[in-house]
Amino acid sequence: TKPVTTASLKEQKKNGEKIVMLTAYDYPSANLAEEAGVDMILVGDSLGMVVLGYDSTIPVTLDDMIHHTKAVTRGASRAFVVTDLPFLTYHGTIEETLRNAGRIMQEGLAKAVKIEGGAELAPLIRRCTQAGIPVVGHIGLTPQSVHQLGGYKVQGKTPEAAQKLLDDAKALEEAGVFALVMECVPEQLATLISKQLSIPTIGIGAGAGCDGQVLVYHDILGYGGGHVPKFVKRYGEAGAIIHQAIAQYAHEVRNGAFPAAEHTFTIKEEVIGQLYG
Ligand code: KIV
Ligand code: NA
Repeated sequence: TKPVTTASLKEQKKNGEKIVMLTAYDYPSANLAEEAGVDMILVGDSLGMVVLGYDSTIPVTLDDMIHHTKAVTRGASRAFVVTDLPFLTYHGTIEETLRNAGRIMQEGLAKAVKIEGGAELAPLIRRCTQAGIPVVGHIGLTPQSVHQLGGYKVQGKTPEAAQKLLDDAKALEEAGVFALVMECVPEQLATLISKQLSIPTIGIGAGAGCDGQVLVYHDILGYGGGHVPKFVKRYGEAGAIIHQAIAQYAHEVRNGAFPAAEHTFTIKEEVIGQLYG
């Protein structure tokens, strides 16, 4: 099947075909996402929490993102891979931002970058798209601003906040983003925004009216601990399966059941006999 492109994603919106996006952080997760037919893979800076054990996305570095992107792109050929620009890597000069986004594409081989924020990012987005860097926007709950927002909360609930999200969405489209992630946005507002934009919207905790959905790999798989938000649906119990397997391994090492003959190499008895003299 043909690789997913910015053009085919736009086509999907036009035809009312939902876009499936999932995060992945390494080679096997990308491979499995690809084999299962997801359209887009996000190397999210959620990797800071999900695979690096930080308690927010703020400590994640550009080098962390590139390292994981390299592994993901080796495991994905059809799915369109997008990588997050992490905290404070797109707030300096435009030149610095272009260099950072450029590294994600040249070293990581991602096909696009995602940045969190609203209309204030428009000049930057124009420069990136002029340079051939496709950009995904991200509005609503923007986790890199968690300390500014005062926690992980639903956004756009007041008339002013709802209007601002709509204005931001339009400004981002106008500036050239080819897709827009909306996180923790009330369904009616996310639906309205999705209808007013011609680029695909991808929701996470933003209801069924978006053009696509994104969730975190470990969340849908029940793989790894921590708080699970209301918007997550769990489709598997990978954590329980892995726990059970490791516990069984430990048990069998301790009672001598592992390794058995079939896991073991041998040589002729004479060879060993000689050594005993
Ligand atoms: O980092 C991430 O995983 C994300 C998505 C959840 C949208 O930004
Ligand atoms: Na992110």
